[in-house]
Amino acid sequence: MLKKSIVYDYNNVLADRISSPISITFEEIESYNDKAVEIHKTLTARRKKGELPFYELPHQKQELERVKKLGDTIKKQMGDRFENLLVIGIGGSSLGGIALIKALTHPFHNLLPAEERKAPRIFFAENIDADEIKGLFDILDPERTVVNIISKSGTTAEPMANFLLLQKFMTEKIGMDNFKKQVVATTDPKKGTMRQIAKETGFRTLNIPDGVGGRFSVLTPVGLFPGYLAGIDLDSLLEGAAFMDGLTNNKNLLENPAYLNAVIHYHLHVHRAVNNAVLMPYSVALSLISDWYRQLLAESLGKKWALTGEVVYAGQTPIKAVGAIDQHSQVQLYREGPFDKIFTILSAENLNNFLNIPSLYEKYEGLSYLGGHTINELFEAEKNATILALTKSGRPSIEISLPEINPFTIGQIFHLYEVQTVFAGYLYNVNSLDQPGVEAGKQYTYGMLGRKGFEEMKKEAESFPEKDQRFIIKGK
Ligand code: PA5
Repeated sequence: MLKKSIVYDYNNVLADRISSPISITFEEIESYNDKAVEIHKTLTARRKKGELPFYELPHQKQELERVKKLGDTIKKQMGDRFENLLVIGIGGSSLGGIALIKALTHPFHNLLPAEERKAPRIFFAENIDADEIKGLFDILDPERTVVNIISKSGTTAEPMANFLLLQKFMTEKIGMDNFKKQVVATTDPKKGTMRQIAKETGFRTLNIPDGVGGRFSVLTPVGLFPGYLAGIDLDSLLEGAAFMDGLTNNKNLLENPAYLNAVIHYHLHVHRAVNNAVLMPYSVALSLISDWYRQLLAESLGKKWALTGEVVYAGQTPIKAVGAIDQHSQVQLYREGPFDKIFTILSAENLNNFLNIPSLYEKYEGLSYLGGHTINELFEAEKNATILALTKSGRPSIEISLPEINPFTIGQIFHLYEVQTVFAGYLYNVNSLDQPGVEAGKQYTYGMLGRKGFEEMKKEAESFPEKDQRFIIKGK
């Protein structure tokens, strides 16, 4: 495994290089030097006081050992019966794990024969779509399935509804005693409904450390346990994150990729109205990092209130795109639409495979140039061509390149973006660790379904004016 640093390149946002109404000058970046030192001091002080525990996750030992030990116990207990791992969770309790598994397992992991897979098939139940959940029941054999329910609170409606359904489905076939042994609950170490249930039923548990919010939890058992069962090298993953901690624990803005990335995004947003941040990986394995990143950015920085109390309506809108696919879908807009986006092109210098494109149909000039190249060269050329096209039309872009896609480099990416996000919270002067806007939606749902204590929310929902039928159209 290549244990090398990822490369952060911000050439293509600089005014000297791109002719654009939404570039940034090097002097403008440098003008944040003192601010960066000040924020760095605050973050360091908070880190020392234990207020930002996500910073310490790369260096953890205890919970990592618990993950491995429990993983080994489960593997031993299930033996050849371990066909499926079903992970139930939503938002911060699922997006990190999904990104991790996609990045570091075979692209068609679940479809490989068991001998080649050397790990269970892995499914994530996130949504509460009856068709999908019933679909899972159709393919999961309860005797051969381990369930990892992940919920810090244990009261989030979606995962808990899915868990209740799953428990009924599985216990009908294998009984409660067996079911109990096939469940691992990842939850708050002390409080919350899931912790209580686990105590009562005897489910085995793993901890989401205190003070680590969902979107910062990929390097806790939330991501680590599914990752371990998938066969991912967790030591290298954390080593990569620790390496990034070394790089980003630096008060000098110009040497710190997390702080630089935050400053560039913030400045373009606030001073150039660049309201959107597009993350466009040129790699299928990296493609779901974008879903994780969308939540991290949106929930952390999308805030109505400043820390000082005034209304600010902060936050860029994170957008997911995938190269080369979205060249054929979004790039027209990206090059010729409004000047309101900054792009990050995430890619790997080397993929695990090289495929030579055969020279066939050579008499067709429109095809013959492909033969003799690798498909990797084509991918790289398309990426560079898109960056060039964006740059030529004055669209700023950042390039982040991984020497190869492996646990060490993926660990770096997770930590980089988490540090960038808390740093950006201070630039915007908002609390990057809470999510009051998510809570309101959760509470209306509780009210509408008649949960005790949420009667006011029910009333509020019911007293909302009826819709005017004149503004609804349907065919006869
Ligand atoms: O980032 C967050 O805090 C949220 O996305 C939560 O992770 C999500 O709502 C799930 O919450 P819980 O783990 O309590 O079920």
